[in-house]
Amino acid sequence: MPTKKGSTDPDSDMAQVADPTHGARHIAIIMDGNGRWAKKKHLPRALGHKKGVEAVRDIVRVAGEMGIEAMTLYAFSSENWNRPADEITDLMGLLRQYIQSDIDEFDENGIRLKVIGNYKALDSDIVQLIDGALDRTANNDRMTLAIALNYGAQDEMLRAVQSIAAAAKNGEVNPQDIDIHHVSAALDTAGLPPLDLLIRTSGELRLSNFLLWQAAYSELYFTDTLWPDFDKRELQRALKSFGDRDRRFGGR
Ligand code: FPP
Repeated sequence: MPTKKGSTDPDSDMAQVADPTHGARHIAIIMDGNGRWAKKKHLPRALGHKKGVEAVRDIVRVAGEMGIEAMTLYAFSSENWNRPADEITDLMGLLRQYIQSDIDEFDENGIRLKVIGNYKALDSDIVQLIDGALDRTANNDRMTLAIALNYGAQDEMLRAVQSIAAAAKNGEVNPQDIDIHHVSAALDTAGLPPLDLLIRTSGELRLSNFLLWQAAYSELYFTDTLWPDFDKRELQRALKSFGDRDRRFGGR
């Protein structure tokens, strides 16, 4: 039976036939709750992160199939260096594995990899892996997967300000001519579509220094689901909620 507008059932007939993206071009996700997922199951934290990578793999695949143009995932924040050394080692190990094991699939599925954040500060072998993957997938055009690594929005904006200030000093731009387009173009996300939907899992209600500029007019979606349990159905639910919103961008 067709479901009326406003239904939250992502499996309704209408959800199957309508555009599964509900018009969202760019989605970002704060993937939170790996540790709590593991704790609930009396498993080591490392297994929570491992399961988190499986969820990443599935969601990237599903988003590509749906026709999402860009997906930005918060994998490692500039504040995550404050975690215990063994957890950082685990996360970096998973990142290495993920890029190595999924690069062929990225290519097969037309996924272009992008990294936001100061990833050059990571271990040199990871930087090499990333640079190789960026090169190899540069011409893929079905979906851009942007992974935030050693990323903080304040740091990103600070770097943008520094590059614009340098351009002004060199006489490339007049300070009074600097507008929001210059700022957007100087951010790590330059070239991505505007951010439509920002999702955070695990019930926390904050942005945690993620995409603060880009989220100016994004719709926000918070779910109690822990990241390892976030699946296709959860993504459909978030997109359905997005599709039901009235976006006014400051107008009325
Ligand atoms: C939050 O869980 C998760 C992170 C630290 C970032 C997300 C990392 C992954 C999904 C794995 C690595 C990703 C890639 C792309 C290789 P948490 O530890 O903060 O959970 P908690 O709040 O329940 O403790």
